[in-house]
Amino acid sequence: MIGKAQGAPISITGLGAYVPNRIVTNDELSTMVDTNDEWIMERTGIRERRIAAPEEAFTDLALPAARAALAQASMDAADLDLLLCATVTPDMMFPTSSALLADTLGAKDAAAYDLLAGCTGFMYALVQAYGMMAAGLAERALVVGGDVLSRILDWTDRSTVVLFGDGAGAVVLEKVDKPGFLGFELGADGAGGIHLSLPGSGSRRIDDATGNGFVHMNGREVFKFATRVLVSSAEAVLERCGASVEDVDVYVPHQANVRIMDHAAAKLGIPRERMVVNVDRYGNTSSGSIPLALAEAQAAGRLKEGDLVLMTGMGAGLTWGSALMEWTG
Ligand code: UT7
Repeated sequence: MIGKAQGAPISITGLGAYVPNRIVTNDELSTMVDTNDEWIMERTGIRERRIAAPEEAFTDLALPAARAALAQASMDAADLDLLLCATVTPDMMFPTSSALLADTLGAKDAAAYDLLAGCTGFMYALVQAYGMMAAGLAERALVVGGDVLSRILDWTDRSTVVLFGDGAGAVVLEKVDKPGFLGFELGADGAGGIHLSLPGSGSRRIDDATGNGFVHMNGREVFKFATRVLVSSAEAVLERCGASVEDVDVYVPHQANVRIMDHAAAKLGIPRERMVVNVDRYGNTSSGSIPLALAEAQAAGRLKEGDLVLMTGMGAGLTWGSALMEWTG
């Protein structure tokens, strides 16, 4: 799916993020599995990640992120009419985390539902909320992306535990006077889905119980997929919007791995200083990655009115998605 944004301008008017307090360094990980700081830094660029406390679930991370986004937008949760959570680690399958979060926030008039698209979940939810608003079905939306992937990792599997971390980010979307979102591109390739999966997590019965309920990943295949789609999806959205890569002021790729991100930036021709990087401190936070990076970029003064912001996510499905927007401040 690909498209140029049409109709009334819609933009992000509030941003928020939250990560758990506990920091797990590469050295600490090397006391749990056969790995070391040098290998992890060289292959991923990750120094440390945040891991949720045993009592913390997805909505505990989503709530402070959502409150911060609402505060920045000066919006009362009661005025929301749409609340979407993108996550593969909801508190439970139902009630949905969106419904629970809406209740806690006091968003009593909001339609609320969860959306699953692996690490691309936030991008899918962003497009979903934009589409609802552009169609006149909603006026004010809250989109949360986040995950507590530490709950679904096999903590004896060194190939996955070194990559992921926990975190959440949230955005408020509203109609604005300026352009805001310019276009989107989304895609999915289920044929590659087997390379990043969570067997035993749904209605598909798996007779061999070994490894059920844990993330299974073919790292090399996901790496190849990631380096390909981060480039093709970004190029597609830029082309559809009539923009060129030189116009991009701030590039926010999914924070999966510094090698993947550097490869994409170089292939696209985006100078590294325009790319937002925080994977070194948080690892791959799945659906939390892009809003978390956006919130940090804003806090660091890197998002200025009129800036062209390019975001591209990718992940399980396999899925990918890009958004191009003019930052409206
Ligand atoms: O949102 C999407 C989520 N997933 C991703 O983004 C993952 C994409 N893939 C990757 O980032 C990389 O494939 C990894 C970082 C996961 C792995 O890097 P790699 O350069 O592809 O390594 P590899 O899997 O080819 O493994 C190289 C070696 C192997 O040893 P041998 O067979 O060469 O002796 C692995 O067993 O590194 C070994 N290895 C490790 N060694 C130390 C694998 N994991 C580790 C580890 N520590 N944590």
